[in-house]
Amino acid sequence: YHVDWDITAAEKGGFDWFMRKEIYEQPQAVADTLLGRYDAEGKLTLDEIRISPEELRRINKIVIVACGTAYHAGLVAKYAIEHWTRIPCEVDIASEFRYRDPIIDPNTLVVTISQSGETADTLMAIRHAREQHAKVIAICNVNGATIPRESDAVIYTHAGPERGVASTKGYLTQVVACYLLGLYLAQVRGMKYGDEIKAITDELQKMPAAIQTMLDNDQQILDLSKDLMDDRSFFFLGRHVGYPSALEGALKLKEIAYKHAEGFPAGELKHGSIALIEQDIPVFVMVPPQGRDQLHDKVVSNIQEVRARGAKTIVLVEEGDDSVNPYADVIIRHPKASTLLQPLLAIVPLQLFACEVATLLGNDVDQPRNLAKSVTVE
Ligand code: G6P
Repeated sequence: YHVDWDITAAEKGGFDWFMRKEIYEQPQAVADTLLGRYDAEGKLTLDEIRISPEELRRINKIVIVACGTAYHAGLVAKYAIEHWTRIPCEVDIASEFRYRDPIIDPNTLVVTISQSGETADTLMAIRHAREQHAKVIAICNVNGATIPRESDAVIYTHAGPERGVASTKGYLTQVVACYLLGLYLAQVRGMKYGDEIKAITDELQKMPAAIQTMLDNDQQILDLSKDLMDDRSFFFLGRHVGYPSALEGALKLKEIAYKHAEGFPAGELKHGSIALIEQDIPVFVMVPPQGRDQLHDKVVSNIQEVRARGAKTIVLVEEGDDSVNPYADVIIRHPKASTLLQPLLAIVPLQLFACEVATLLGNDVDQPRNLAKSVTVE
């Protein structure tokens, strides 16, 4: 008697790839990152932070250090952390960090972001930071990994195991964990705009449901993937937090679909990259909230500019914003969210798009060529 079964297929829970499964797990993953972080009065309590409030009040500079997708999470986080805490925040690629002789001292807070907690470049960066007596907080998904063990404090993302080499739920939960850190710092340092911080805290709780809405609308992305799978080059545009979202959308497509893909800050386009826009080239654009963000109209004119040069525009925009309708070839809607929370929604269709294009092309989505899930050599 012989039973044919495949443990890997069972672990994928009916999905063709771990990556796709992990994309669909994101509402739960984000809910788990947020779980148990607030006390009865709604105050943040990050108890894994073994750095005293006095020490945190002395911090005068933050440096975020990470690689790959985690670096993009750091780029998003910089906008939120600076805005809420008014502490200058830099973001470094870990492999560049210590070689530029960075200015760090005991009043510097180094925040490392690493899904695996084992990336050699990131580990070397924190060792360098600790030698300069900086405080180090790790944002990590794997309990007890090397990077959190060598840090002063850790915020675990609690996303559950991530097996796809291209990070998805790892990324979303890293952004959320960074936001929790930023809000915590603002709270500890007594920042004056309590109302805004309260509003963001409430809105964060609504994100799992909003991410689910993105996933419920997946058919549009699957159809779009079929239409665009043979295109050779893809551009992604955004401003403010939309810019790192553009970088991350492009990275997903490079990693698993092996497509030439680039993310640009939309306002920088006219200073060079617009020369690359040709007939029918797909350009994804992230639009900031209408009426609540000064960049909204500027991004809409960026869409017009690329459309006028023949680009096929795929526009990610909130529900009810019809200002883009005349210039969009495809409109992907997301629930309304404030600017800083839009990256949690806008990236979901881009992850799905990369996963589906790679699948249609016959690539191994979970084990893309030349890549490893965790790179433990420099
Ligand atoms: C590798 C993976 C990437 C990942 C990066 C950082 O290069 O292929 O997907 O973003 O490492 O990994 P970490 O575990 O430090 O977040």
